[in-house]
Order: sequence, then structure tokens, then C-alpha cells
Amino acid sequence: MKKIIIGNFKMNTVPSEFKTYAMTLATKVRGTKNEVVVCPPFTHLSFAKEFLGGSSVAYGAQNISAEENGAFTGEISAKMIKDLGATYVIIGHSDRRGMYKESDKTINKKIKTALANGLKVVLCVGESLQIRESKQAQNFVRKQIDDDLKGIYENELESVVIAYEPIWAIGTGKNATDKDISKMSEVIRKEIETQFSAKAAQNITIVYGGSVGIKNYKKILSNPSIDGVLIGSACLDVDDFSLMARETY
Ligand code: 13P
Repeated sequence: MKKIIIGNFKMNTVPSEFKTYAMTLATKVRGTKNEVVVCPPFTHLSFAKEFLGGSSVAYGAQNISAEENGAFTGEISAKMIKDLGATYVIIGHSDRRGMYKESDKTINKKIKTALANGLKVVLCVGESLQIRESKQAQNFVRKQIDDDLKGIYENELESVVIAYEPIWAIGTGKNATDKDISKMSEVIRKEIETQFSAKAAQNITIVYGGSVGIKNYKKILSNPSIDGVLIGSACLDVDDFSLMARETY
């Protein structure tokens, strides 16, 4: 079964290091059935165009402005990354929701901007430990889905990947269990069915993120309730990332 394997560099590495990374990755994953996507920092995207353009590896950014253009000093627009050949953008990562106070309203606007510019969106959702412990995780994720996808047309969901990334599992070495992943994936599909249709729920792409690495990727990727993974720190090692990206199920 074809899976989607996405790497999120976060704020790591410098552009010159990315050249070798990109060339190695393109070579190592050649021929895989999986869809492989890397999301390095903005500064690396022109190297991504140079070294991944024409390969089977897609690339994207980790954020965009909700605005199209104008007096927004320091911001990067959807058009700018698109011009560098990016096809994906991660929106609503918990780092941005938490540290940069991105609201669901802003995230919704960013998704619309991304889709209007022909980008595919990796929408991150997921609860904190506190929410999980208060047994509110399902309600919390449902509300994120509703608010973030408000006003999106059903046919646009083809360009949306939902990444379930529980905050307590990110960078902690404690991945969610198979049961947690299956349950939340079911909740997400049900919510998509309620907001859109049964067909949309069946077709929506859902991935899991949070401490996926070389030790657990096989087990996580073999969970039939998800279509792939979003990998943080473990994607920085090109050999490990290529190995995980090549796996077949
Ligand atoms: P880790 O894989 O480092 O836990 O990060 C997950 C993540 O936040 C990917 O977006």
C-alpha cells in the first residue's frame, strides 16, 4: 500500500547542508511507491528546487502567511514558495499554535490561501497532555478540524492531509499507541463525514506524527487506519529518513 512519508526539519540545518541531503535523498528513494515529502526551512527551498526538482521527492514549507502579499515584513507568501516549486505546506503545527499563538481562525485563513495558490496542505491537529488527561482529546481534535476546515469545499480536501500529532508525543520519545492512533483516526474520519460526506471521510489522507523514528516506524506505518507519517527529528538523518520512506506495506 502506498503511504505518504513527510519530513519536517523544523528550525534545523543550514541551506548548504541541504544540498547533499537533497541529492542523497533523491537517489535513495528512487523507485519507491510511497510519496516522499520534505519540508525544510524556507531558506532551503531554492536548493530543494535545484536538487529535488525533477526527482520523485516533493517538498514544501513549514508555514506561510495568511495574506497574499503586501506590507507584512518578515512574512513569506504562498506564491513565493510555489514559485520555488514547493507543492506542500505544513499549517497549524503545534509549535506555531503554541509558541506563536496561531488561532484556528488564522489557520483556516492560511489553509484557504494555500489552497487558492494550488498548494497541498498538511494540517496538524492534536491535543496536549492536559487535555488528554481530562479526557477531552476527541472533542478538542474535532473542534480543531471543524474550525480549521470551515468554508473549505469538499473537492479541496483532496489537497489536504490531516496530521494527528498529539503534543505529548512530539519530541518526547513516547509515540502514541496503535490504539490511540486508530481511535483518533476514526474520530477524524467521523468528523469529516459529519462536516462533508462519507466519501470525503473515506478518501481523506490521515498521517500520524510524534516520535516516529527508526525503532518504531514499521509498526506505526503498518497501522491501516493511517496513510503515512510526519517525522520530525528522525528525518534529519538522510539515511534513516530514506530507509523509513522506502518501506513498503
Ligand atoms: P518528532 O518526530 O521529533 O517527535 O516531531 C514530530 C513533529 O512535530 C513533526 O511535525
